[in-house]
Amino acid sequence: MPFKTKKMSAYEAMYEAQKIAYAPIIFQAVRSLRDLGIMAAIQQAGVKGISTKEITTITNLTKYGVETLLETGLSCAVVEQLDDGHWLLSKIGFFLQNDPMTKVNMDYNHYVCYQGLYDLDKSIQNEKPEGLNIFNKLCDSDWETIYQALPHLPTDIRTAWYNFDHFYSDSAYPATLPLLFKNEVRTMVDIGTNIGKFAILTAAYNPDVKITMIDLPDQLKNAVANVAEAGFSDRVKPLAMDLLDPEIEFPPAQDVYWLSQFLSCFGHQEIVNILTHAKTAMAENSRLYILETCWDRQQHEAAAYSLVNTSPYFTCMASGNSKMYHSKELIDCVREAGLEVVEIYDNLGICHSLFECRTAGN
Ligand SMILES: C[S@@+](CC[C@H](N)C(=O)[O-])C[C@H]1O[C@@H](n2cnc3c(N)ncnc32)[C@H](O)[C@@H]1O
Repeated sequence: MPFKTKKMSAYEAMYEAQKIAYAPIIFQAVRSLRDLGIMAAIQQAGVKGISTKEITTITNLTKYGVETLLETGLSCAVVEQLDDGHWLLSKIGFFLQNDPMTKVNMDYNHYVCYQGLYDLDKSIQNEKPEGLNIFNKLCDSDWETIYQALPHLPTDIRTAWYNFDHFYSDSAYPATLPLLFKNEVRTMVDIGTNIGKFAILTAAYNPDVKITMIDLPDQLKNAVANVAEAGFSDRVKPLAMDLLDPEIEFPPAQDVYWLSQFLSCFGHQEIVNILTHAKTAMAENSRLYILETCWDRQQHEAAAYSLVNTSPYFTCMASGNSKMYHSKELIDCVREAGLEVVEIYDNLGICHSLFECRTAGN
């Protein structure tokens, strides 16, 4: 289990508390070091380091600006300073500047989460994504969830959201296909298809499978266009549906019901409702697969750390009642819907688990 209590002195604990108290400032200062090209200039200089003056020339920033940001960078060990005053990138700085996962996470936290998270406490109290008001004001809209907003958001916000979502699911998809196709699959529903990535990958993997993509109407437009471009419109069809509607009906007796990074968008009872509707549609041999990132099933504490700290985004920006679930809670939802988990495949891609389910008693 991650997050074991570490022994520390009172002074160390007080220092750790200041790191949390200053975390938003550290985040923005380090992001600015990255986005204003200061870290790139330091990296470019190599082991001899680079002076503040040289950085100002390369970045066209003032001595005041460069020094202010670098002093914060020094305090959080993103940069180091040599005796001659030259700056070096630390190992942490190396990852912030070069690691694609760290870049995707930082962009997502800046563009999608940062401003709205100011209202996290209100969101918890009101059980509503109060931070979404930032985007509602920006786009003169009144969306209740971020999923209605997504296709309409300004490019930088939308790009950061999609890059984050796809970075993780893309890493797991290839490993899941042989697991799905170990049984014969002729029909599949991709529930929460987003822009149709998994549907396209599956259609390319198997030349016979027929796929129904389900999502909100505006989101589906992108999926349909992508499927057409990939040349699979004859086998991959859209079905617009709001899955919060209590009257939904899924296509019946499909071989596979696929839910990837989808149930984390909903609260416990909503998940049970969606799974109950899926169960009603399922035939005896149907399989339902849930691909999720459960923080308790991670090999590395760093992954669990990123996952639990993504939950407040769901509270404040996405829906007000969803999160990155502990696997026990997901399994409870499966049971409450009259389904059973028959197999769990862990460590797929960067951090996913695949829950293979069928109707209870089959
Ligand atoms: C986090 S994305 C996951 C996308 C994709 N399955 C993947 O693995 O990357 C969740 C998807 O669920 C869709 N979704 C969320 N709420 C929905 C609702 N009420 N009805 C239908 N689709 C919904 C969103 O539009 C989005 O495409």
